[in-house]
Amino acid sequence: MTGTHSTVTRLEQHRQQFPGLVNKAYFNFGGQGTMPQPALEAIMRAYEKIQQEGPFSAGVNAWIQQEAVATRQAIAQELGTTADTITLTENVTVGCNIALWGMEWQAGDHILLTDCEHPGIIAQVEEISRRFGVKFSTCPVMETLNQGNPAAVIQQHLQPNTRMVVLSHLLWNTGQVLPLPEIVEVCHRHGVKILVDAAQSAGSLPLNLAELGADFYAFTGHKWFCGPAGVGGLYIHPEAFDSLHPSFIGWRGVNLDSTGKPTGWKPDGRRFEVATSAYPLYVGLRWAIATHQQWGTVEQRYTQICQLSAYLWQRLSQLEGVSCLRTSPPEAGLVSFQLTGNISHKSFVDSLEKQGFLLRTLADPDCIRACVHYFTLPAELDRLVEAIEKQLAEG
Ligand SMILES: Cc1ncc(COP(=O)(O)O)c(C=O)c1O
Repeated sequence: MTGTHSTVTRLEQHRQQFPGLVNKAYFNFGGQGTMPQPALEAIMRAYEKIQQEGPFSAGVNAWIQQEAVATRQAIAQELGTTADTITLTENVTVGCNIALWGMEWQAGDHILLTDCEHPGIIAQVEEISRRFGVKFSTCPVMETLNQGNPAAVIQQHLQPNTRMVVLSHLLWNTGQVLPLPEIVEVCHRHGVKILVDAAQSAGSLPLNLAELGADFYAFTGHKWFCGPAGVGGLYIHPEAFDSLHPSFIGWRGVNLDSTGKPTGWKPDGRRFEVATSAYPLYVGLRWAIATHQQWGTVEQRYTQICQLSAYLWQRLSQLEGVSCLRTSPPEAGLVSFQLTGNISHKSFVDSLEKQGFLLRTLADPDCIRACVHYFTLPAELDRLVEAIEKQLAEG
């Protein structure tokens, strides 16, 4: 896999902005992205500004408000929506908690999950079930990775009292992209709300949330957007907004009267923001997003991710002793595979890490996951495949 000389040079220059790419071959973007240096510097400058002009002052407080507005706008633009639909959170898990705890559950209501959800999200549904007498069940989408129709599976598992379906857009274990427009249509036809875990999709798939129509879409800035850990967000569809009530409440979510008393909720996504946060991180996330935009549009980045993941998938598929979970090229940047011999995935990955190749294992299905971003080099993929081949040969 080769590019023209000028594309390669441009990519190499672009990559120099990411200190995390220098001393290793990085394939853990689904865990945490490598932050660009301009984002790191902008965070530092923001902390310094706050100290120089405050830390608590009218000037700093006004500046923080502006930064929050600009951050919701930058995220909204990237995700194809408007800033009023965005709540700033800390991560995916907090966004899911806002949606799950914000519903008015009745005993006997039902929540449908897929069998590919993250443990942090499953634990929320389990506790809601215990607290409110809500039932939940799990439907098998993992088996639709190579054939079958996930939307049909979900439809078959809806019950008369199902009120919410909780699923990931891009499955963190197998790398499958679920057909969200079809699934949203099925859910809404049955009067069911849909909460999407967007941990792997935000920052990697082109998205138009306004068109997609999902009710709640919870994402983070620190994975595929390569922003700082500690800033994420929740999209709430305007038509679903009134069905949610805040669970954690603070001054950021309410309007105040002239005596400083709360007079009612903020009318938009700010309603679910709580109180003081690490605001300089907002600036960092905006710089990270701007860095990707300098390289290309969301569609161009996604095309590049798919070309690179197809290349890795194809090279791994040809290796004796390796079996990719997918039988066709991936639909995004996650490439999951198993070792067919009697080898522990964990010790294999640990050994790769010692050689400078950073990947991770997953428990279900038991596999190894390599993530490629748009700025991954084909040469890095070649080196990874060679390292895997060599390690397999050495046993
Ligand atoms: C599918 C999925 N959901 C949720 C999470 C948790 O993300 P966060 O720490 O941003 O809440 C992850 C992280 O790996 C994930 O892959």
